[in-house]
Amino acid sequence: MNRRLAQHEFIFIILFTIISTVLFTKYLNTLQFTQSSVINTTTMSSSTVIPKLTLSAAFKNRRTVYALSDVMTVPDSKIQEILHDALLHTPSAFNCQESRLVLLVKDEHKKYWDLAYKAVKPTVPEQLFEKLYEPRIKMFRAAYGTILFYSDPAPLSAQAAKWPIIADKFPPWSDHASGMLQYAIWTLLSAEGLGCSLQHYNPRLNADISKEWNVPTDWDLKAEMVFGAPEGPAREKTFEPVENHRLFVHGA
Ligand SMILES: Cc1cc2nc3c(=O)[nH]c(=O)nc-3n(C[C@H](O)[C@H](O)[C@H](O)COP(=O)(O)O)c2cc1C
Repeated sequence: MNRRLAQHEFIFIILFTIISTVLFTKYLNTLQFTQSSVINTTTMSSSTVIPKLTLSAAFKNRRTVYALSDVMTVPDSKIQEILHDALLHTPSAFNCQESRLVLLVKDEHKKYWDLAYKAVKPTVPEQLFEKLYEPRIKMFRAAYGTILFYSDPAPLSAQAAKWPIIADKFPPWSDHASGMLQYAIWTLLSAEGLGCSLQHYNPRLNADISKEWNVPTDWDLKAEMVFGAPEGPAREKTFEPVENHRLFVHGA
């Protein structure tokens, strides 16, 4: 009788362990799913919903898309939220937080590319302008918005003064930090179903921008990101081999 009881107890313990493990694993999976959906919110409007992306899928999804329209399905508030969060959570050397963003949408975006047209035209040969610059500037103007990526030199100088031995490292580190911010925003906007391209029309427009949008003249414009609704897919992309050419592993 006692032996039978012990056998029943043993079977009960085994079953209990298996069921608890299965339930606990399911619970962990739910937690992971919730985290990734917080990072990759992709509801565009009540009628258009793109599947949620994991973080690595969002990296693969980010591409350069040039042909963009200004017919948007993502509200301005969502764009602002992305820029706000990216500014807060993208790292910077010594936590300087020197990156500054200026967001131009709708007419302000169009104004930016009108200024670019006027600023670039006298600086390049006529034929080159007509063949290359004019169609590109018109293409960017047709999009919805432009994000200007700046670096404010004040926090960098303050840190450099505290660390004279590495003072010369702060400008390149600021470029790195801006690149990280550009990449974060590019990936997040793409995960919303938007198309983006990265441009460099600085410093030709610096004076015009400062006048038009009250940007301090000592801020350093690093890049401009054009975004809007994609009109087509990204261009074909080729990849260099990775293993033993771009990636070298030792000890794995
Ligand atoms: C630092 C940097 C500078 C870039 N500058 C420009 C640029 O001035 N104009 C442009 O059209 N694309 C520019 N690009 C986009 C690259 O050409 C593009 O990312 C690359 O060809 C890979 O394509 P993908 O973005 O679709 O992956 C730049 C990208 C990086 C990372």
